[in-house]
Amino acid sequence: MSRKMKNKIITEVAIERIASEGKCIGHHDGKVVFVGNVAPGDIVDVRITKGKSSFMEGEAVHFHQYSKDRVEPFCAHFGTCGGCKWQHINYDLQKTYKRQQVVDQFERIAKVPIPEVLPILGSANTRYYRNKLDFTFSNKKWLTIEQIRSGEEFERNALGFHIPKMFDKIIDIDHCYLQGGPSNDVRNSLREFSLQNRLSFYDIRNQAGLLRNLIIRTTSTGQTMVIVQFGEDDAENIQLVMEFMKSKFPEITSLLYVINTKGNETFHDLELVTFAGLPYIEEEMEGLKFRIGPKSFYQTNSDQAYELYKVARDFAELKGDEVVYDLYTGTGTIANFVAKQAKQVIGVEYVEAAIEDAKLNSEINGITNTQFYAGDMKDVLNEEFISQHAAPDVIITDPPRAGMHEDVVKMLLRLAAPTIVYVSCNPATQARDVALLAEKYQVERIQPVDMFPQTYHVENVVQLTLKP
Ligand SMILES: C[S@@+](CC[C@H](N)C(=O)[O-])C[C@H]1O[C@@H](n2cnc3c(N)ncnc32)[C@H](O)[C@@H]1O
Repeated sequence: MSRKMKNKIITEVAIERIASEGKCIGHHDGKVVFVGNVAPGDIVDVRITKGKSSFMEGEAVHFHQYSKDRVEPFCAHFGTCGGCKWQHINYDLQKTYKRQQVVDQFERIAKVPIPEVLPILGSANTRYYRNKLDFTFSNKKWLTIEQIRSGEEFERNALGFHIPKMFDKIIDIDHCYLQGGPSNDVRNSLREFSLQNRLSFYDIRNQAGLLRNLIIRTTSTGQTMVIVQFGEDDAENIQLVMEFMKSKFPEITSLLYVINTKGNETFHDLELVTFAGLPYIEEEMEGLKFRIGPKSFYQTNSDQAYELYKVARDFAELKGDEVVYDLYTGTGTIANFVAKQAKQVIGVEYVEAAIEDAKLNSEINGITNTQFYAGDMKDVLNEEFISQHAAPDVIITDPPRAGMHEDVVKMLLRLAAPTIVYVSCNPATQARDVALLAEKYQVERIQPVDMFPQTYHVENVVQLTLKP
């Protein structure tokens, strides 16, 4: 784009469809324009923010026509909070667009023959479906343009979510529709108590302040874990806060805190203190219990995780005598979920603590045919590992958004298991990996699953079988 285009307003752009990452596409003078926070069917004036010779990016500054597919967003924070970017699009269409994303990625990136992509499995709950939320305390509350212009004084302490692309600005959340149970009450009560007691909210630029972060985890079994992160080692005030939480919310089954004076909010390397209750919560699936510690990963939509795992198990087509490799096993949830239908399951995962959880989850469920190994997949899955373990009949792989390392894909080709079930939260990298696997594999089934209603994210499961 020539510099001249920046900030230029182009008028009456017809928004045609959704592209990847949730942005929408229109055209102007034969060039593609990507626009955020609009819906297909809108006609808008767009202020150009960025562009290259072949495309432009911009933001809608005036609406001439609203799409008939729009619905009224139900959350007061919609538009400012980055959490649920698709609330203005009705859920049936959200599902259509998500499925289309999968079709597009496989056509454009994988470029291999594919069967008809199955209808997406929608989430029964489109609100209050998350089991984990992470809130940040800040003394730099985000103020709207109207608030700033009003000239009034506003409370600047906040507890809520980061404003997209602004690391130090936090939107104060009054009600979040993502998590049910006591979540909203816990957050609002803690903020109220902290303000009343004049406790300091974290100042991220100066890295100072007592109250830093709040994590709330819930389960379908009705348990709740709350972790309060403190930025200062102030024993008296920590006791004050934790006693308040304990007495105000007896329903919290696992109440913990951590003192974190480091430069970042992650606490994987820090010791947590269990203030009340147990140091874990438990999720349940088909009678299996999954213990979730404060540092453990668990799929964030519990009900839909069950649906996802059922698809993965169905695509694995287990009869009982198979050796299964569960790659990127996390806390071994899929491994333990399919163990009853397999002869042996071997799980591999980077995070050592997760592997400890995976072993524990086998133990508490009386599962004896699993083995778990910790390490980087590309290093663990080597010739020595293969020679020491039975060859897999089925490989289930569920890598992070970046997909699989090329060496891991090569090893999968070398292993040549009859079936691969590829679970992914990023169809673009999944399609890239499938293109490489196509050297030996064909795509049998593709099943998108919606784990995150009101967002553009889509989970996708692909069944691959060895070519004859
Ligand atoms: C999408 S999660 C899969 C979780 C699990 N399958 C489940 O359903 O709970 C991806 C997992 O891959 C792990 N991981 C990321 N990079 C890795 C690597 N290079 N080697 C091994 N594991 C890795 C992450 O720690 C994470 O647990």
